[in-house]
Amino acid sequence: MRIPLFTLLFCLAPAAVASGDAARGRALVADTKKSLCLLCHSAPIPEVRLQGDLAPSLAGAGSRWKPNELRARIENPRALNPQSIMPAYGKLQNPNRVGKPWQDKPILTAQEIDDVVAYLVTLT
Ligand code: HEC
Repeated sequence: MRIPLFTLLFCLAPAAVASGDAARGRALVADTKKSLCLLCHSAPIPEVRLQGDLAPSLAGAGSRWKPNELRARIENPRALNPQSIMPAYGKLQNPNRVGKPWQDKPILTAQEIDDVVAYLVTLT
């Protein structure tokens, strides 16, 4: 059986562009013990009743930023703003400033950051 080339391209393209899972990303953003995003930000996640106001709302983030900009910000905000109080989710933490469970791995894995980005791009 021959599969037309455009069918193959159609199947492969979305996987290549978006390796993240928006539903998992939403759950991570809503997780106030692991990601802590909603300690500082608000987002259209009504089941989390207490949300932060130290940082811009994540609503509309997908219109303001491209996926690679969102990823860069989450991995290491201080590369964009040296004064930023936002944690660098993709970097190892200063061992003097975090507890043992966080010392030898970043807060979020690369896959988890992709998931969060996949969720944020839906916030248009
Ligand atoms: C300790 C507070 C804090 C936490 C926790 C935090 N952020 Fe932030 N974030 C900020 C601040 C403050 C800014 C504003 C820019 C700056 O100062 O770096 C920001 C900016 C952003 C922006 C750009 C906002 C815009 O549209 O201008 C995005 C997107 C973002 N954060 C996503 C996240 C995600 C996703 C998480 C969780 C994985 C998170 N942040 C956790 C404080 C925080």
